Amino acid sequence: MRSLSPLYYLLLLIDAAMAAADPWSTDCPSDANYTRGGVFQANLDALLSVLPASASAASGFAKKATGVAPDEAYGLAQCRADVSASDCRTCLDASVRDVATKCPGQKRSVLFYDDCFLRYSNVSFFGAADTSWQAHLCNRDNATQPELFKTQLGALMSNLSSRAASSLRLFAVGTADFTPFARIYGMSQCTGDLASDDCNFCLTLAVSSIPTTCDEKQGGRVAYQSCSIRYEPYAFYSAQGIEAAMSPPASPPPPALNGSDHSGPAGRAGNDDANDATAKIALFVSIPVAVVLLVLLTVALYLCKRKNKKPHEHVRISNSADSEDGTDMKSSESLLYDLSTLRAATDNFSEENKLGEGGFGPVYKGTLQDGQDIAVKRLSQTSQQGQVELKNEVVLVAKLQHKNLVRLLGCCIQEEEKLLVYEYLCNKSLDKILFACVRADPARRQELTWGQRYRIIQGIGRGLLYLHEDSRLTIIHRDLKASNILLDPDMNPKISDFGLAKLFSVDASAGNTSHIAGT
Ligand SMILES: *[C@@H]1O[C@H](CO)[C@@H](O)[C@H](O)[C@H]1NC(C)=O
Ligand SMILES: *[C@@H]1O[C@H](CO)[C@@H](O)[C@H](O)[C@H]1NC(C)=O
Ligand SMILES: *[C@@H]1O[C@H](CO)[C@@H](O)[C@H](O)[C@H]1NC(C)=O
Ligand SMILES: *[C@@H]1O[C@H](CO)[C@@H](O)[C@H](O)[C@H]1NC(C)=O
Ligand SMILES: *[C@@H]1O[C@H](CO)[C@@H](O)[C@H](O)[C@H]1NC(C)=O
Repeated sequence: MRSLSPLYYLLLLIDAAMAAADPWSTDCPSDANYTRGGVFQANLDALLSVLPASASAASGFAKKATGVAPDEAYGLAQCRADVSASDCRTCLDASVRDVATKCPGQKRSVLFYDDCFLRYSNVSFFGAADTSWQAHLCNRDNATQPELFKTQLGALMSNLSSRAASSLRLFAVGTADFTPFARIYGMSQCTGDLASDDCNFCLTLAVSSIPTTCDEKQGGRVAYQSCSIRYEPYAFYSAQGIEAAMSPPASPPPPALNGSDHSGPAGRAGNDDANDATAKIALFVSIPVAVVLLVLLTVALYLCKRKNKKPHEHVRISNSADSEDGTDMKSSESLLYDLSTLRAATDNFSEENKLGEGGFGPVYKGTLQDGQDIAVKRLSQTSQQGQVELKNEVVLVAKLQHKNLVRLLGCCIQEEEKLLVYEYLCNKSLDKILFACVRADPARRQELTWGQRYRIIQGIGRGLLYLHEDSRLTIIHRDLKASNILLDPDMNPKISDFGLAKLFSVDASAGNTSHIAGT
């Protein structure tokens, strides 16, 4: 014991030095200073005092907003997925201290550390891939055999990026043996608020910038506000940490029905004792499903007892603090479809192309000249809005983009026609599949496995969270039902009809949510 103590102290010293590591990059633009002692500072202080603890307690990721507009502060803290909860806390605590010295008085900042990342702003940035700012740091040493190295590195990093984007924690690590003696260790990670496609977009950009940032160097890192990549000739991450992070005791195991779904050791662990895992998954899936059914039943019973007085008040919108700027109208032109185009696409709104009848009018399937399939909602003449207002609202709603929302592509307002153009989803709505038994079509009902059901529930939750908290307009759907959930070819759920109250000028100035609307 005694003979070991010098080494022990040395380790402690190294540990302390690592813990107090400086950020490897920061971005605190001095064009937006806050007033000392003002409301924003109070909100920011409150935010920064809770972020490290919440992130380290919740698998290394937290985002929060404090205060009210215009002084609201938005913050996001994240640790590399393999970093332990205590190291995560140490790193983030240091980052909060560094904010005061490195970014004093700034309304928005980004700080990158080896182990963690902190970002805050007076403007909401949640759920959007932001690549407006880039940082990089390269090893001094050149790679031997640069051509071979570049090929191997490119393949490794693209692989890691697509694996990270499709993984639960938006994180992946891996290695490539580029010679028998040299190995490349790589990592890709996105901030936990991103959707898979946005993550993929950000990481792809980062990987493609390696030749212009750290060309032919043995190691390097590239980071944007929303994602980062790193590669080194040595293991800079902890293999045990990754195993702990990817086989989570705290968070539920993913329904590993499709082996290719989630990368990392979790998939492998699942195969080892499949029976045990299956039992757990079954339990895990059936309990929430039972709860959801119970809630739906209760709501249905309640609704049956009540008469809905305002049939068109389907959705409640509350005005977001984020007022729109002039650039929005410019983009509106590209959202406008010509009536003749849509007539041609839908075969003049023929009965064969009719997909169904929604609350606001019939929906038609159409195919544009370039082969793109669309769904066209033909609004009945109930909208009280003028053309300009309707156009403005379409611009706003078209900006809401999330993989669990049906995309509004644009609109057409011509000759008394008001048409909304949506992306077309071939698998129809959830109710058609769920309630197939009613139409004596058990084969269709069998299509949904428990794993898919679980993923559909999770996807609907993600879409709602985006509408409620992360989108520019804060939207409460108020008419969520199985027929408003559409399924894409991969059975991913997409919420539809979420912006209609905005389009139908439902009074949104009152905060009264005590009466039930919808179907
Ligand atoms: C913000 O503060 C920094 C340093 O405190 C100063 O250099 C900068 O000019 C200020 N910016 C504005 C827009 O006032
Ligand atoms: C954020 O701060 C900048 C600079 O002071 C200001 O121009 C902008 O309006 C603020 N944004 C919000 C949403 O408060
Ligand atoms: C790396 O290569 C560049 C040019 O290929 C050379 O100028 C530089 O000195 C090399 N650096 C090291 C550390 O060997
Ligand atoms: C990434 O590499 C692994 C191991 O080489 C391979 O199994 C996997 O299919 C690759 N994934 C992608 C998306 O290229
Ligand atoms: C798994 O995914 C692949 C491609 O994404 C698909 O072809 C296959 O049918 C899926 N398997 C199951 C069991 O869902």
